[in-house]
Order: sequence, then C-alpha cells, then structure tokens
Amino acid sequence: MPRKIALITGGGDCPGINAFLASAVRRGSNEYGAEFIGVRNAFSGLVADNPEQYLVPLDPRSVVGLENRSSTILESSRFNPFTEANRAKGCPGKILANLKRLGVDGILGTGGNDTILSAMRLEESGFPTVMAPKSIDNDVSGTDVMLGFRTAILFGAQAARSTADSARAHRRISLVEVMGRHAGWLALEIGVASGADLITIPERPVNLTEFCAEVSRIYRERHYANLVVAEGTSIPYDDPVIKRAREESAVVRSLLEETPELDSFGNPKLGGISQILRRVLRIELGLEKIEEIRTTDLGFTLRGLAPAADDIILGIRFGIKAADILIGEERSGVMVGIHGLEIKDVPYKKALKPKTVTRSDRELKALGVFISSNGESTSRQ
Ligand code: F6P
Repeated sequence: MPRKIALITGGGDCPGINAFLASAVRRGSNEYGAEFIGVRNAFSGLVADNPEQYLVPLDPRSVVGLENRSSTILESSRFNPFTEANRAKGCPGKILANLKRLGVDGILGTGGNDTILSAMRLEESGFPTVMAPKSIDNDVSGTDVMLGFRTAILFGAQAARSTADSARAHRRISLVEVMGRHAGWLALEIGVASGADLITIPERPVNLTEFCAEVSRIYRERHYANLVVAEGTSIPYDDPVIKRAREESAVVRSLLEETPELDSFGNPKLGGISQILRRVLRIELGLEKIEEIRTTDLGFTLRGLAPAADDIILGIRFGIKAADILIGEERSGVMVGIHGLEIKDVPYKKALKPKTVTRSDRELKALGVFISSNGESTSRQ
C-alpha cells in the first residue's frame, strides 16, 4: 500500500482544487494512515535540483478550512517534462529520481488535458499516479464536468448579465469574451445563462458578413445587443469583411499579424477576438463612434474565484475517490470523474479524448449560438 503520497496541481488554476487537496489528505491519512506532501509548481517542482524547497507539508490539521479557498495553495505550472527537448535533458528520469529521494510512492493530482497527459507518461514509466480533472474549459472526456467549470459559469453569467444591463442603459453593443480554448462550453453556458443575443463558439466558424448582418438587425431593432464570444472563435482570414477591417484599423492589422505564443504543450495563448470583432462591427454597421461597442474580457476573473458549493462538493468527492483508488485499492493510471450522480474512474487514454460542444445546429441556434449558413474553414484561431 502506498505510504507517502505527493500532491501536485498543474495547468491553469481554477476553483475547487483546494477542496480536492483537503479531501485527499483527510481520506488518505484518516482511512489509510498515509503521509502527504504537497509539491509546489507541479512537474516544474518535481524536476528541480532541490525539490525539497518545493515541498508543502500537508496533514488533516493543516488542511482544515482549505476547501473554501480559491485557486491552488500548491501553485501551478504548465511545465511539460516530456517534450523532446526536456526528454533529451533527462527530465523524466530526474523526476523519478527526485520522487525516490523524497520517499514518495504515489502521486495524486489535479490537471487538465496536458497535466493528465504528463501523469499518463509518468505512469507508463512505472510510477503510480491518479488524477482529478480540473479546468474552467470543461474540455476533458471521462467526466461530465471538470472542477472549476460550475463556479466559472455562476460568476461569468452574473458578470455577463451585468454588462448586458449596462449596454441596454447606454444603448450599446456589448461583447463579452471568455476563455475556453478550443471548446465552447464556457461561452455557451455563460451566454445562455446571461440571456445573450448571440454566442460564438470555436466549434462553429463565423461567417462575418452574416454575423454583422445579424448584430445589425438586433441593434437597429432594440438599440442594444449582448454578445458572448469564446476566445477560440474561428473567423475566416480571407473574408472581405476582414480585408476591409485590416485596411481601416491598425489594431485589427496588428492583432491578426501577431503570432500567438505557445505554451510548453504547444497550445497557443489565445485572446483578443472581441477586440477584432469590435472594430469589424463598427465598420460594417457604419457606426460613428467605436464607443457604441464595448468589450469586457472576463479572462482570468473566472479562474481565481472562491469555489461555489458545487465545486467544493465535487472536489471533496474527487479527493475521496482518488485516495481510495491509489491508496486503498492500489490502482493507478486513471482519472476520476463524475458520471451522472456517480464518481467513477476511467483510464487516462479514454479521459484524454477532447470534449467539445457536439450539440446539433438546431439546438445550438435555439440557445443563441451564431450558426453561419455555410461552414467556413480558413480561420484565425
Ligand atoms: O486551460 C484553461 C485556460 O484558462 C484556457 O481557457 C486559456 O486559454 C488558458 O488557460 C490560459 O492559460 P495561461 O494561464 O497559461 O495563460
């Protein structure tokens, strides 16, 4: 039975991670007598020359009240030890050596698709790991919902409703941009819950001529419009609307020409679509002032929130299940998840299938998602 467990939290922070940590420690210590250490900065801490400096002692007493705290007390990183360059530097071997040096015989952690992939690689090297899914993007299979998503929707919907009310009072078009990477869950649910007139999601590329015509119709009729746009919204580069915007706006030119930075898993850093759409709409709607269209980027405001009850409960249930699997049942190589009302586990490979919005056009349209009449393909993002 594993006796000393390391806890890690990788990828973007989000609400509910600390509830998982508190719960895993309590369950593992009280039920199985295991010892816990937290390792700051996930794989970046584990690969350090001096891993001892990254340790956070954790026991049932030190985690009292931790469930309610935002973000992660263990800090996070997107360090990928399994890139070709990091493999060549011997990172995976160093991690295994450090775990041995620390006397650790199992890892429990939270992560999104990238951190879970690293946990799977470590598992393949013979080291036992069990993970819990977390990300406001809600983009991992093997669970109905990831930690952080529910809280993000709750706050995001409130924020988007507030901008909608303000837009109505000032007779403006409001563009609210939300994260989500290549999955539209966050934009979809925040948009629906806040009564958005139009929602754009990465899964449905946007024909800008049709989009502008639709926004124009709403704005002319009602004198205000509320739009929720996903950061990963895909717009065609060669659209005549974009060509016009490029010619007329230096901001559009520079945003389109900017090469997005990549993280160590190769994910582009997204963001800025609402700034492009703001200028495109101004030109196409022939508005006198850009001030008639305002943008609000919810961005990181959705990541550092104190967890809502749903995420505290989910974190606690994930923590119990993960400790039971790794320590009690001596199994590993799996991710815990919620399926209906049950907490279950699935092999990493199954969990890692990307989960994007798969509903029919008909349903999405009824929910307010903008659906172009033709499927555009050449996209910015
Ligand atoms: O993975 C969650 C997420 O919040 C994405 O929606 C977003 O694109 C990304 O993280 C931003 O990551 P970073 O914190 O590395 O800038």
